[in-house]
Amino acid sequence: MVNNEINSSGNVSSSALENGGGLPARYMISAALPYANGLKHIGHLAGAYLPADIYVRYLRAQKRDVVFVSGSDEHGTAIPIQAMKEGTTARAIIDKYHPIIKQNLEDLGISFDIYHRTSEPIHHETSQEFFTYLNDRGELDIIDSEQYYDEEAKTFLADRFIKGTCPNCGFENAFGDQCERCGTTLNPDMLINPVSMLSGNAPVKKPTKHWYLPLNKHEDWLREWILKEHAGDWRATVLGQCKSWIDGGLQPRAVTRDLDWGIKVPLPGLEDKVLYVWFDAPIGYMSATKQWALDNGKDWKPYWYAKDTKLVHFIGKDNIVFHCIIFPVMLKLHGNIVPANVPANEFMNLESDKMSTSRNWKLDMQDYIDDFIKKENGGSQMADVLRYYLTTIMPETKDSEFTWKGYQDANNSELVSIFGNFVNRAFVLMHKLCKGKVPPYHTAFADDLDKQLIKDIKATKENVESLLEQFKFREAQFEVIDLARKGNQYMQKKEPWKKLKADGDVITIIAENGRELADNSLHLSLQLCANLAILIHPFLPFTAKKMLPMMKVVEKMLEWENAGRVDLLKTGYSLRAPELLFRKIEDSEISYQLEKLKKASDAAAAKKDDSSQATVDSQEKKAEGSQLTADSKSHATDEPINKATIQYDDFAKLDLRVGKIVSAEKVEKADKLLKLQIDLGFEVRTVVSGIAMHFKPEDIVGKQVVVVANLAPRKMRGIESNGMILMAEDNNGKLHFVNPEEAINAGAGVS
Ligand code: MF3
Ligand code: ZN
Repeated sequence: MVNNEINSSGNVSSSALENGGGLPARYMISAALPYANGLKHIGHLAGAYLPADIYVRYLRAQKRDVVFVSGSDEHGTAIPIQAMKEGTTARAIIDKYHPIIKQNLEDLGISFDIYHRTSEPIHHETSQEFFTYLNDRGELDIIDSEQYYDEEAKTFLADRFIKGTCPNCGFENAFGDQCERCGTTLNPDMLINPVSMLSGNAPVKKPTKHWYLPLNKHEDWLREWILKEHAGDWRATVLGQCKSWIDGGLQPRAVTRDLDWGIKVPLPGLEDKVLYVWFDAPIGYMSATKQWALDNGKDWKPYWYAKDTKLVHFIGKDNIVFHCIIFPVMLKLHGNIVPANVPANEFMNLESDKMSTSRNWKLDMQDYIDDFIKKENGGSQMADVLRYYLTTIMPETKDSEFTWKGYQDANNSELVSIFGNFVNRAFVLMHKLCKGKVPPYHTAFADDLDKQLIKDIKATKENVESLLEQFKFREAQFEVIDLARKGNQYMQKKEPWKKLKADGDVITIIAENGRELADNSLHLSLQLCANLAILIHPFLPFTAKKMLPMMKVVEKMLEWENAGRVDLLKTGYSLRAPELLFRKIEDSEISYQLEKLKKASDAAAAKKDDSSQATVDSQEKKAEGSQLTADSKSHATDEPINKATIQYDDFAKLDLRVGKIVSAEKVEKADKLLKLQIDLGFEVRTVVSGIAMHFKPEDIVGKQVVVVANLAPRKMRGIESNGMILMAEDNNGKLHFVNPEEAINAGAGVS
């Protein structure tokens, strides 16, 4: 369905095409606004801020006109809920976390042009104007409905303020918008025995009215724009999610809420209503741009209205629908440009488990900064180590995993042994054999190794460029490290130390043409160092800047157009002594971190009585999720294996049997579920399966299926399901039965 490679030239984007095929005139780059309700972890960093920063630093080095915005998302129920937890006010929460998160991101080298706040008056005005513009033009529908109300607290209840039993898995503390145990998306009406979290009472239904964005009216152009126009350049995972949403039929989405925390709806008599947080937050990108323009004497408008602006949103996968469907509809109705790309990342796990704030299974930016950057043997250099490792495992096409061992290895065997080692060697040998000056290059002695190295430097520049234009950050960074690796190999083959011998100040030639050959290899090695600084700069800005004084060059050298040149350091120029770029990370530092992670999560578990229920076996969740949450997940793609290797013993634990569907019926009030009776030869089983959107009950009776017969029973909508049937999902998201070619006896084993 989707082929990311089509656009392998990398420079083509639809907005560039609108611009007559040339480069965009300017770039508007956003990274998701984090909720200012707590510390943010490295999953957030790797998901949005780091890739955005790499891209922006690259664009700036290309001297492109770019504005990079983000800031705190300070509305929504996330804020008052945290205030409840900390026994304080919503205002106090945002004032506490905004500066911390801002500083953390800065410490890790994220170079925003502005890090704004949605609590600023300019943002309130911008959002209200936006709403008014849409409402005045009749683009919003007003719909009456009934909503849960807490009579004691005298307030309507946001979905998050209602708890109850999950209709899907029976978990008793599911939220009104989602069950944290099984992951199912819910609405408060689906909860069994709902209670208000404010008073603890059962809420009552009360009439209210809300303003809706009729997404259903925009299906056609969304389909055309996302699934056709961008089929070749958006990520498969992003396209897959969008397709699921669009194919599932878009519904009108309420953009107002009955809450007191948020931006007031700008209509008379509606003092109790605020704008939905997902309406105002993305507008925050625009208000941030306005503020930046005010601060810098610029005009903000072209960044949001001009067709030759390239708008790119960096986000995590849980934000895809908002940035690819809802916000673009808002932008279009408001007369703005729509994003050229939304390179969303998948999730990053930590030491084999999902990162989670409630279970305290995470690594906060703050902790990393305290333990590595602020420590004596740390420094901002250590920010680059984290940036480096996170980029090597950036979850661009599938979920990935942070391990402390992986972090240590990436540092010790790549940054220290390859990059740092090469730079250090080149400088030390130049000091030893060339009196601390850039030696001349003797053209008459140029050999094939030299020519190859020069070619490699040029090719790396081009490759990095093309990969970055395609948002392939992992591969782009790999190219740079690989060039350093080639540098080491080059040095190893050229062996300047076997051409000249230094005894203090006295240098003796110990091979034929030793002077010229040593000069040439060191000359090129130093030019390579300069190139490495330019190429690594978007990824590891602190390292690149640390290399500048060693080479006695100014920051201007880091401009991208200088990459690929081998005359960056002038012959005869005296250079400084090398500084160690990276330090080794000891085993003890790693075991300390692992211990700390375990302690923190144990403490969280002890504090939370329902934690055992909240932690679900993630495999189980995935197995269900694949059929139950079709609207929020991405489709299977033509990606390679994306699960860890298992041993035969793991596989042998499954009891797979051929069965025959003897009856099928819809499960009441569950659009996706069918209740099946399956004959396994030795017994007839009830299996509840999430395939109702794909098959009519009457069409599947009599079909053979493969059943996981020893799956622990589990209740769905009050029905006990005893097993699971295997289905294959094609690239279009269509499900197919997995069954024997010809009918065989029910109960036959599958292995
Ligand atoms: N605060 C949201 C989250 O953390 C992200 C908001 S992104 C923006 O999931 F578009 F609203 F800005
Ligand atoms: Zn559940």
